[in-house]
Amino acid sequence: MARNAELRQAKAAKKDEFYTQYVDIQKEVNAYIEYNPDVFRGKTILLPCDDPEWSNFTKFFAQNFEFFGLKKLISTSFAVESKKYKEGYMPTLFETESPIFDNNKTRTHGKIFILDRDTNANGRIDIDDLQWNYLEGNGDFKSEEVSKLCDEADIVITNPPFSLFREFMAWLFKKKKKFLVLGNINNICYKEIFPLMQTNQMWLGPSISSGDREFRVPQEYPLEAAGWRIDENGTHYIKVKGVRWFTNLEHGKHHLPCEFMTMEDNIRFSKHKEVKGVGYSKYTNYDALEVPFSECIPSDYEGEMGVPVTFMDKYCPEQYEIIGISLTLGKNKPANLPKSQQGGPAFYLKTEEGYKRQYPRIVIRKKQ
Ligand SMILES: C[S@@+](CC[C@H](N)C(=O)[O-])C[C@H]1O[C@@H](n2cnc3c(N)ncnc32)[C@H](O)[C@@H]1O
Repeated sequence: MARNAELRQAKAAKKDEFYTQYVDIQKEVNAYIEYNPDVFRGKTILLPCDDPEWSNFTKFFAQNFEFFGLKKLISTSFAVESKKYKEGYMPTLFETESPIFDNNKTRTHGKIFILDRDTNANGRIDIDDLQWNYLEGNGDFKSEEVSKLCDEADIVITNPPFSLFREFMAWLFKKKKKFLVLGNINNICYKEIFPLMQTNQMWLGPSISSGDREFRVPQEYPLEAAGWRIDENGTHYIKVKGVRWFTNLEHGKHHLPCEFMTMEDNIRFSKHKEVKGVGYSKYTNYDALEVPFSECIPSDYEGEMGVPVTFMDKYCPEQYEIIGISLTLGKNKPANLPKSQQGGPAFYLKTEEGYKRQYPRIVIRKKQ
């Protein structure tokens, strides 16, 4: 593998042990419940790539088992020895105090947690009724063992390893599952992911559309991100930008059209200096209007427009049609580009200083 690709992969793998905050799961899931209170009723939910001793997904769904009317909750974790980042792992009290604790298996096997009945006969099904055991294998979501659990599930929910997002989505689509999955907005640009969003086979969830989110990270993780925090218990958190939920569950919000100003009003009143008084340009290598910020989409423009990927936060399929993405549509690049402006397919603007390569753009057109 080329050195650059190796470095990119290592960087992505570093982010595999990021644990989602309870409140982020709660806000998102509650939005689906508000839209359809029966969305999870009678359903089996699988939480793969989880780690119930660390993770809040299992906790949240176990606590709400009865309220959501779940039939069964299954959660699986990945073996410590298989993780790319495993330093400092010690079996927890939860494990060692259990009668099924096995010192030989605990680092090499994944674990399975199941909740489907009132095991302690206290009259309700909740987190205290979770039963756990070792998996036969390491808990890899691609294993036959976890695949079978996926076949049993109606809905799959998790924050999968950052470095395996594409493989994880391919797995879900092959299995034709309903899902709610955390990822990064830039994942939209992957050639495997974009067509799924373009054809409305998946869309963004409603609760996150800007800012950054905090994730709990292992104690030994390098705290080199722009934002990090150590709380009063010594727990480490890292802030991540561009986090989004990806789903094929209906939540209503993505069918609400957005209101935009006309082109003239944008030029007169936009808060963005790139548009106010300046107006809009067309690309030199593709026949579309450059819209540098999604909120500046001119409501009265009928032709094709290139918008940043954050447009997907506002995308309503009844309002706009997605034509494609500059990463494939921008193949005909201007000739003799200086080195700083070269790269894969992209859209270019002609400026007084020369050609200006644009960040990835999604090409849209207003629906009649
Ligand atoms: C981003 S973390 C998220 C953990 C948890 N779902 C949460 O959000 O709090 C992804 C987890 O998947 C695990 N993992 C990595 N590769 C995996 C694989 N091939 N199959 C299953 N899990 C994997 C990582 O070790 C990590 O614990």
